[in-house]
Amino acid sequence: MDNLLKVEDLHVKVGDREILKGIDLVVNKGEVHVIMGSNGSGKSTLMNTIMANPVYKVSQGKIYFEDEDITEESVDKRARRGIFMSFQSPDEIPGVKLNDFLRISKEQVEGKKPSILAFNKQLQREMEDLNLSEDYAQRYVNVGFSGGERKKSEILQMKILDPKLALLDETDSGLDVDAVRIVSNGIRDFLENEEKSVIIITHHRELLQNIKADYVHILKDGKILQTGDDSLMDKIEKEGYEWV
Ligand SMILES: Nc1ncnc2c1ncn2[C@@H]1O[C@H](COP(=O)(O)OP(=O)(O)OP(=O)(O)O)[C@@H](O)[C@H]1O
Ligand SMILES: [Mg+2]
Repeated sequence: MDNLLKVEDLHVKVGDREILKGIDLVVNKGEVHVIMGSNGSGKSTLMNTIMANPVYKVSQGKIYFEDEDITEESVDKRARRGIFMSFQSPDEIPGVKLNDFLRISKEQVEGKKPSILAFNKQLQREMEDLNLSEDYAQRYVNVGFSGGERKKSEILQMKILDPKLALLDETDSGLDVDAVRIVSNGIRDFLENEEKSVIIITHHRELLQNIKADYVHILKDGKILQTGDDSLMDKIEKEGYEWV
């Protein structure tokens, strides 16, 4: 199995406070990993650290991507390697239209200008798949977007940028059943390419209705305390996190 991401004994601090206390995680190409855990257990911190958000300082341990040590690399270098992250609460970017944002992001990640024609065609197709009407491409990124529309625009971004590893920090809150299905299908489509991998943070399994999780990890107080298969999600849904 081809190794994509390897996190080794990762300790992470914000200021003086240690939030992650020794995380080990290996993600191979083609795998779906789900991370669960109660509020404040460190899930978003783990994702942010893998994406190199500078607020989160690695005080011990290493992060490898395709066998290269990326622990000290900046966010844009990691993006160019093929790591993508969607945020739990994405920002509005007033003054920047969604289509320009996507085109410029793609150019930065790929290191060359995409053909406008091919880009527009891909954009149109992906927007149709997500049930986003064409005029969203002309609107400022996330400004006035509903919760569901923001989620869809993130999935759109993931599909346009076509990373090797997508880190999806899902709120699940405020998405109606149709939006959950569309987002879930978007992730499933992305995974149709057998080389692609995702790590999904979610509290509910509805988002995984069409996606088979290879591994489910439960985070508690900055450590992975349990790793299992799909069935671990059922157990959590029935019994909560107390027993972990
Ligand atoms: N930028 C930050 N500044 C200060 N503290 C932070 C920061 N980011 C995270 N923390 C703290 O680290 C702990 C873990 O937070 P994190 O956001 O990783 O939790 P989570 O598991 O994603 O929770 P949730 O399910 O609520 O999203 C929390 O106590 C949080 O307050
Ligand atoms: Mg979080």
